[in-house]
Amino acid sequence: MKGLLTAEQLAPAVDTYLAATPPERRWDAEHSFAWAAADADRLTEGQRSAVEFVTIIEDHLPGYFDVYHRHFPVDDTVPPEVFAHNRALYHFTVRWASEEDTHARALARYQREAGMGVPTAPVLPRFELPYDHPVQFFAYALVQEKATQIYYRQLREVIDEPVLADVLTRLSRDEARHFTFMADVVARYLRHHGDAVVEPIRDVVATFRMPLADTMRGYWR
Ligand SMILES: [Fe+2]
Ligand SMILES: [Fe+2]
Repeated sequence: MKGLLTAEQLAPAVDTYLAATPPERRWDAEHSFAWAAADADRLTEGQRSAVEFVTIIEDHLPGYFDVYHRHFPVDDTVPPEVFAHNRALYHFTVRWASEEDTHARALARYQREAGMGVPTAPVLPRFELPYDHPVQFFAYALVQEKATQIYYRQLREVIDEPVLADVLTRLSRDEARHFTFMADVVARYLRHHGDAVVEPIRDVVATFRMPLADTMRGYWR
């Protein structure tokens, strides 16, 4: 892909992201919530379906991870300077993937513990982003991370269920950090490549659709 940042230009964004969560603030689906108190009877029908919906979105993680792996391979199919960039990016993607996978586990566990039943992860179609400029992969995720952050924050504001509120607080904080990383990378592209990236970014925003937008009925509701 033409127009890629160098490893040196990308690395500070990765370092900032990895430094943003000190070990004592990490969490997981197994230990960080009072699951015994989870109670879906305190949610409305609409709120329960909002939880089910976003569980499926989070469960799409392997698809996102694959896209980055396909477009930024960490092997000898790319020239050494691209490899260096992709290796630096991988420090981000692997942690990011782990966090998104934790979101999927926390939401699925919530459904089980709260009495919503055992969610089954649907078989998903292959996820692809049809972009040819590297900045577009970050601009896309920037919009998506902001959208999920707002979704969690707004859902948390309308529910009255402390365990779900805890889960949503953790999730929206993570999405805010993910957004910050994507915004940092896009800003670096603008700084180093200027006008050449404006059109590709505009393209992403104009055609943005959430993953699964075509496959999930009632999505835009
Ligand atoms: Fe997430
Ligand atoms: Fe995220």
